[in-house]
Amino acid sequence: MRKSKLPAGVSAKLLRTAKKVMKNAHAPYSKFRVGAAILLSNGKIFSGCNVENASYGMTNCAERTAIFSAVSQLGPDIRIRAVAVVNDQGVPSSPCGACRQVIYEFGPDATIFFPGANGFKQAHITELLPEGFRLP
Ligand code: THU
Repeated sequence: MRKSKLPAGVSAKLLRTAKKVMKNAHAPYSKFRVGAAILLSNGKIFSGCNVENASYGMTNCAERTAIFSAVSQLGPDIRIRAVAVVNDQGVPSSPCGACRQVIYEFGPDATIFFPGANGFKQAHITELLPEGFRLP
């Protein structure tokens, strides 16, 4: 299941949404605000920001906030078609390993847009997470 074509303008719309929600981040410890937006196969868009905690390990990344929000609203049958991630420092940042596995759970054919060294990069989830885990 590889590289299904996305409608025109999807990345721009997702990036706009991600930038907006990034402003809601709770990031007093890292001072690194992140926003994420996801497009579902039903055409709906959900978004999320990172939410940190004084107990650092409790931090939730922007990507997982967006995905958990979608599951909370629509149930577990969601299918992620695309994900966009932005940060407030204009530095390269791809989704962390934990978020890649969570994206893969709901979007094994998802396209990911994220800040690279020379502008936004686009990658298939299986390029970022080869051999993602699935229960047999
Ligand atoms: N963070 C995200 O929200 N998404 C990522 O893909 C990488 C890291 C957050 C977690 C933490 O709040 C801050 O960025 C610094 O690690």
